[in-house]
Parts: sequence; C-alpha cells; structure tokens
Amino acid sequence: MNITVKKGNLADTKTQAIILGVCESEKDFSKLVAGIDQKTGGLIRDVMKKGDFDGKPSQVCLIYTRGTIQAERIALVGLGKKKELDLEKVRGAFAKVMQHLRGLKIGDAATSMDWSLLPDQKEQFASALVEGAKLGLYQYTPYKTVNREDLKEMRNLEMVVTPDDYPLILEEIRKSNIITDAVCFARDLVSAPSNDMTPKIMADHARKIAKRKNVSCHVLEKGKMKALGMNALLGVAAGSHQPPKLIILEYKGGNKGEAPIAFVGKGLTFDSGGISIKPAEKMDEMKTDMSGGAAVMAVVMAAADLKLPLNIVGLVPATENMSGGGALKPGDILKSYSGKTIEVLNTDAEGRLILADALSYALRYKPAAIIDVATLTGACIIALGEDVIGMLGKDEQIKKDISKAAQTTGELVWELPLWDSYSDMIKSDIADYKNTGGRVASTITAAAFLSKFVGDYPWVHLDIAGPAWTTKDKPYIPKGASGAPVRLLIEYLQNRAKK
Ligand code: BES
Ligand code: MN
Ligand code: ZN
Repeated sequence: MNITVKKGNLADTKTQAIILGVCESEKDFSKLVAGIDQKTGGLIRDVMKKGDFDGKPSQVCLIYTRGTIQAERIALVGLGKKKELDLEKVRGAFAKVMQHLRGLKIGDAATSMDWSLLPDQKEQFASALVEGAKLGLYQYTPYKTVNREDLKEMRNLEMVVTPDDYPLILEEIRKSNIITDAVCFARDLVSAPSNDMTPKIMADHARKIAKRKNVSCHVLEKGKMKALGMNALLGVAAGSHQPPKLIILEYKGGNKGEAPIAFVGKGLTFDSGGISIKPAEKMDEMKTDMSGGAAVMAVVMAAADLKLPLNIVGLVPATENMSGGGALKPGDILKSYSGKTIEVLNTDAEGRLILADALSYALRYKPAAIIDVATLTGACIIALGEDVIGMLGKDEQIKKDISKAAQTTGELVWELPLWDSYSDMIKSDIADYKNTGGRVASTITAAAFLSKFVGDYPWVHLDIAGPAWTTKDKPYIPKGASGAPVRLLIEYLQNRAKK
C-alpha cells in the first residue's frame, strides 16, 4: 500500500472512506471529529448515541455519508479513553480499521492527523499511525495460486494535512516506510518455508541489501570456515546437505575508523534438533529459527536507507540443523573459532554453537557494542510468555537503551539475570564448556554460554523465541512472522545516532 500526502481538508476529500480515530467519550470529540460530525448533520454523534460505537480500543464502525461530505464513508475507529491513549493503541487502531476496509474490498482511504490526541508526541504519533496501517495490512501470499484474484489489497492511504504540517508528515512517512519495509522484509524471510529459505538464499538476500550505498556484503563459505577453524558452526551444518554461510553485512555511515555496532543474528534456516531430534508436533515452526538473522539483515538495510551516521556490522551464521549421516552426535567435542572447546551434549542446543563462532568473529571489528538476536530457547517462552523478548547481558548502558527503545516501539523486553554463578552449570567435565546446562534456567545458561565468546566487549543477548512468531493475530501483527525486534533495534540505533 502506498501512503501519499496532500494539503487540504479531510471533509473536502474525495475518497472511498475517511478514517477518524475517536475516543471513548463524546465530550472528548476533537475539533477534527466535531467538524466532520457537524458537516454530516450529526452522523457520528448518532451512532454513538445509539450505542453502535463507543470508541473502545480498535472498535470499528462504518457510516455512509450520503453526500453530506465528499467521502463515501466515514470509518470510525476507537482509541479508548483519551487519557489512556498511547502509541501502541494508535498502531492497533489503524491496523484494525485498515484491515476492516480491506475486508470490504475498499482500496483507497484518507485520514488526517488529529494532533489534539497526542499533542506532545507529534512525530511519534504520525509514525505510529503509518506503522499500524502498514504492518496490520501485511499478508504473505506468494504460495497462494488458487483464486488469487480474491486476494484483497489496499491501494492507497492519503494523509490530508495543513500546509504547516506538510514537511513534518512527509518526513515521518519517509522514515516509517523505510522501517515498515524492513519489518516486512524480515517477515517475508521468516515466513518462507525452509526449502525456499536456505542459507544460500539468505545470503542472496544479503547481497541484494548490499546494493545500497555504503553497504557491502561478504559471505564466508564452508572452505573459508574450515580454514578459520569455525568448527562450532561447521559442526551444526554437518548433518545437512545445505552448505552453511556466514553472512557479513557492513554499513559504513559513521566516521572512518569509528568502532561499529555489531549485530549477530541466529540464522538456523531449519532446526530439526539434529540427532537429538525434536518431536514432530510443531516442528514446522522451526523454519522460523532464522528470525534473528532476518532481523539483523533488516536492521542493516533500514540503517542504510535511513542513512544513519553510524558504522554497523551484521553477522548472520546461516545453516540447517539436520540429522544426516555426517551430523554431530551427542558427546562430540568441537574446537570453536575462539579456540575454546565445547562438548555437545544435546544437538538441539545448536543456536549457541553457531552464535559462538559468529560472536567471536565479531570481535575482529573491535565493536562498540555487540547485540545478538536469536530464537534461542523454548524456556524463554515458558519463563516470559510468547510476547516477550528475554534480555540478558552485563552491559547496563545497552540494556537501559534497549529498554527505552522498546517502550517507544511497543515491543516487550524483560531482563533475566546473568550472575556469574550460572557459568558453573555449563562447565564440561572434559572440555571447556558443554552446550547445555540441562532444563533448569536454560535461557540463562544459554546466555552464560554465549558470554564466553564475547571477550570483554559490551554485549547484550536478546532471546526472541517467543515473539518472533505468533500463532494468533495481534493488533498490528497478523498471525505468523512478527518481524521482531526490527523496530526496536532501529529505534535503538536512531537514539544512538542522536547522541
Ligand atoms: N530453536 C530452538 C528454540 C525454540 C524453541 C525457538 C521453540 C522457538 C520456539 C533451539 O535451538 C532449541 O532447540 N533449544 C532447546 C535447547 C535445549 C536443548 C537446551 C530448547 O529450548 O529446548
Ligand atoms: Mn534447537
Ligand atoms: Zn534452534
């Protein structure tokens, strides 16, 4: 869907539907809503009086204007109580109303920014509206071949603005388009089945990202990994016919020589568990085990499109975890790229193995910060639920900045402790570490394992096992791939760029 900007007045805009966000009490009618209500002879007041619409969050009500204004319809969308209004409610409401209009095969709509709703957050309000609309309308359809003509799509949302607001809105739409495109890019990669999202195909996507200015892409192939001694990554790949790739994206938007921010994303294009094989039920969802990698690629892409004045490295170790004849076996010991040895007690704890080598590789860049993103542990879902990102690390500043960014983007982040004592649980009897500390605190012991491969660099780990994929529709995340934590990380970078 396109978003266009026009100077003018909503009441005089010819379109299939104008969208109005309305708070729960009629007393709170804004100037914009009151104006349209008056022009239509009280149509909005009417549906509220009759009880058809009371402005509860994301409630939608359609009114036919019968020629009282230029638009054919008014689509009211509830924003809840005015004093409880926030960006998350704006995103949800605009997602819901756009989905509703699309369901009616409406292709064009218009709206205006009602600044009185969130007068202190103009920029963020405008971008939340665009984000809600675009992310809510996301659908993944490339594999649907039957009755494709029945697929519905919104064509255009027109933002009708005053001349004064024009530059601000134009700028916010530009940025929101970049960010939502990045989220949808990540969603597309995660949604794709593993037969069409192999490590090679992920690498091809990375190369396309590198067509941008100041972005370059290198892909380390199996031979190079062997030469470098990346045996943890190679070990995981050993049971698969798909050759592994270490995807390296570099974006140079900052000063020459300035230390980059390194993102490392788990790129397991399919996790069968390997010899420690997973149960059949829901194994299909393990095509999403490259969500962290997809997010990292999306973040580099957005950073370049936003021209952020930062240097950024994105590292994505990409492989399958399969149980072919060459596969890792429980008890095997691997010498990682760092030189440290790992006893593999469970081949299903593979994410930390490939991340170990990629994290160690990140140290080559002497990064200012390392953030890894991974669908690492089922235990994180047990601990925090499906919607929450688990955050672990010892760098208080990065954690604080991530938490702050999450408040803006509406992504839920919760910290788990990473006390030194947890490291005892991953000591191996015969190697340096073992790749699982058992069931107890396993999100934490996974992070403790990763911490052994980041040296003294400031590092934070985000476990996205829960929110990467959603089995039920959320307001602006249709069920399936969420694109988390792309918006969070872009917000983090934007804040960092301002410092
Ligand atoms: N990719 C899984 C974690 C996962 C599970 C992500 C469910 C999303 C949804 C990971 O590789 C894994 O299998 N972890 C094991 C670790 C265990 C063997 C120590 C787990 O969480 O059970
Ligand atoms: Mn696994
Ligand atoms: Zn996995």
